Amino acid sequence: MIKVAISKMKREQIPAVARVASASFSGLKDLKIAKKWIDCNFNAFPRMFYFVAKLKEEIVGYVLWMEKGGFRERAVIELEQIAVLPEYRGKGIGTQLTEKSLCEIKKYLKKRGSVLKIIEVTTGTENKAQRLYKKTLNAKVECTVKDLFRGDEVIMISRQEKLRQEKLRQEKLRQEKK
Ligand SMILES: CC(C)(COP(=O)(O)OP(=O)(O)OC[C@H]1O[C@@H](n2cnc3c(N)ncnc32)[C@H](O)[C@@H]1OP(=O)(O)O)[C@@H](O)C(=O)NCCC(=O)NCCS
Repeated sequence: MIKVAISKMKREQIPAVARVASASFSGLKDLKIAKKWIDCNFNAFPRMFYFVAKLKEEIVGYVLWMEKGGFRERAVIELEQIAVLPEYRGKGIGTQLTEKSLCEIKKYLKKRGSVLKIIEVTTGTENKAQRLYKKTLNAKVECTVKDLFRGDEVIMISRQEKLRQEKLRQEKLRQEKK
C-alpha cells in the first residue's frame, strides 16, 4: 500500500487532474476536452466535489462526487468518477480516495443539516472497480443498463440509512449482552 494525502481539489490542479482522466477514460483521452469537462464540474461546486490524491507533490488520482435531485435533507450522491494513474493502481490509492473523501462529504452534509441516504455508482459489468465499491461503500449491484458508454454498465447502490440502522441494532445488542 502507498500512503497518499487526500484533499479538496484546487483550481490550479485542473491540468494535473486532466492528465489522470486522460490516461484513464477513453471519453477524456483528449487533454483539452478533459480540462474543459473538469473545469465545468469544478465550477459546479458544491453540487460537484473533487478530491485529489497526492504523492509528494504529484497528483496520482482523483474522485468526483455529485449530489443529485437538489440539496436534500436526505441526500442522494453519486460517485461520478474515480481514477488513479495506471502505474499507481492496485496500491490502495483508490481505497484511500473513496474512504477519506466520503468522510469529508458526510461532514459537509452534517454541517448543512442533512444526512446521507443513498450513494449511487455506475461502472462496467466487467470493471474491477466493482470490488472497490463493495469494499469501501458497501454498494450492491441493483440493475444493469445495456450499452451505456462502451458496453453494459451496472448501477450499484449503497443504502446508508439501512447501514446506520443495522449499526445501531448491533450496538443495542452489544449493550444488552453486557
Ligand atoms: C478503479 C481505480 C480507481 C481503483 O484504484 P486503485 O488505486 O487501483 O484501487 P485500490 O488499489 O485501492 O484497490 C481497490 C480494490 O479494487 C480492486 N481493483 C479495482 N480496480 C482495479 C484494477 N484496475 N486493477 C486491479 N484491481 C482493481 C482491487 O482488487 C482492490 O481490492 P482489494 O483491496 O480487496 O484487493 C483504478 O483502478 C483506475 O483508475 N481504473 C481506471 C479508471 C476506472 O475504471 N475508474 C472507475 C470507473 S467507474
